[in-house]
Amino acid sequence: MQLADKFLKDDALSPKVDYNHELDFLGTETSFGFGAEVTALEATKKFPQIYKFHIGDTGPKTPEPIIEVAIQALKDKQTKYGHFMGYKQVHANIARYWTKTRGVEINTENILLEPGGKPAIELAIQALVSKGEKIIVQNPSYPIYGSLANFYTQGKCLSWTARQNPTDKTLDFNLDDLKMIVEKNNNVKLLFLNTPQNPTGMMMSQEKLEQVAALAMKHKFMVVFDDIYDQITFGENKHFSLLSVPEMLDYTINLNGCSKNYAMTGWRIGFIIAPEWLIHIFGQLAVNKWSCVSRVNQIVAGTIFGDVDLDGFHYNSVAEQIKPILKSDFAEYEKKGRFLSAALKLLSPFILPNEPEGAFYLFPNFENILKLKYLNETLNIKTDKEFSHWLLYENGVATLPGSDFGSGGTGYMRFSYAEDRNNHLIPGVKHLLKTMIDLIEQSGEIPPIKQTDVEEKVKLLEEKYFV
Ligand SMILES: Cc1ncc(COP(=O)(O)O)c(C=O)c1O
Repeated sequence: MQLADKFLKDDALSPKVDYNHELDFLGTETSFGFGAEVTALEATKKFPQIYKFHIGDTGPKTPEPIIEVAIQALKDKQTKYGHFMGYKQVHANIARYWTKTRGVEINTENILLEPGGKPAIELAIQALVSKGEKIIVQNPSYPIYGSLANFYTQGKCLSWTARQNPTDKTLDFNLDDLKMIVEKNNNVKLLFLNTPQNPTGMMMSQEKLEQVAALAMKHKFMVVFDDIYDQITFGENKHFSLLSVPEMLDYTINLNGCSKNYAMTGWRIGFIIAPEWLIHIFGQLAVNKWSCVSRVNQIVAGTIFGDVDLDGFHYNSVAEQIKPILKSDFAEYEKKGRFLSAALKLLSPFILPNEPEGAFYLFPNFENILKLKYLNETLNIKTDKEFSHWLLYENGVATLPGSDFGSGGTGYMRFSYAEDRNNHLIPGVKHLLKTMIDLIEQSGEIPPIKQTDVEEKVKLLEEKYFV
């Protein structure tokens, strides 16, 4: 409890009552704290510009038609409590879309609205995991899974750690490893699975998802299937849902919402698709926690998928209007991801980036940078965390260390390419490459490209990916 430490260690501040020490197992999502540090550093004006690669937020703004629905709903005074589970018509609109895109019948009874996608994580654990039962989390993965899993199991969360390809250092979640964990622990109750994945930007293949499904059915555990980035996929990489595997609705808690696909992170609108019996339990937990999702947000969530009528007011679907906007937003993500990967590859083998498949993250391997003599001996930087700190405070480049996403991410850096390409991505990548070349040269090694080549090489990539 780092924040409370300040109070607990200072006699003058110390509270008279202790806190619940089970909280010592709770982790955090560092991108929020790191984001606050970036803002504070910006205010000092130490750097003319901080290049932002740390943000887990969307680049584009919420499409205008969605904003107009919210304004209209407010003008209609839709300001009182909403339905605690979500209005039936909103559920029906989501169910229709899910049935069509997942190829399995989803009913209104399979849905719960929630404030953002995140609450589903704790709901699933609270509803399903009893004392002594186990939770498996991908490693690396979105940090809140491990944080809450460790809190509720008092540090006994199990890791499905990705294997590293020895040549290109890309990460891969191997099914044999998952099988072994499940077989060794006879009381696994829950697995957290995310695709397209934060932090890697990788997607899980249909074949692998079918194997996970078979394992869940055989060993009778449930899967929190987080596909909150499901529409942001690139090229040949098409999203496959665990729900599309026959019978898997019985074993799946599908976490989704409006945050990422519709650029609505601050609105806090999410939804869960799950078996009806579990939705009932979640509904009861929801009443105990947040009472309801605001009416305005419920109307907005409904119109993304169809028409909504509430209390004598009619709201037209925005589905068709937002289609071209989203198409262009996703195309821009893809271009930026491909550009960033190609630009980082200019420093291979010092930096080994993966290919972007979905979401808006890359997870390049920085182990060969982290081993550089100048970095280790002169700057005394040895870990990805120290490196991230140095990049921000000494160089004005904000990225998150891979180890913030679990031990399996150690030696990697998470790059978000959500931010604007002209203000952040392109100048930021040039600045980063030059900084890395300097480190390589100071260490007495030969960089694959010279400082003087950076502008021209990056320009060529800009022409390739953006023109
Ligand atoms: C994989 C993943 N799941 C869930 C969430 C939480 O989404 P929301 O902001 O809708 O709560 C995030 C947010 O970054 C995420 O990356």
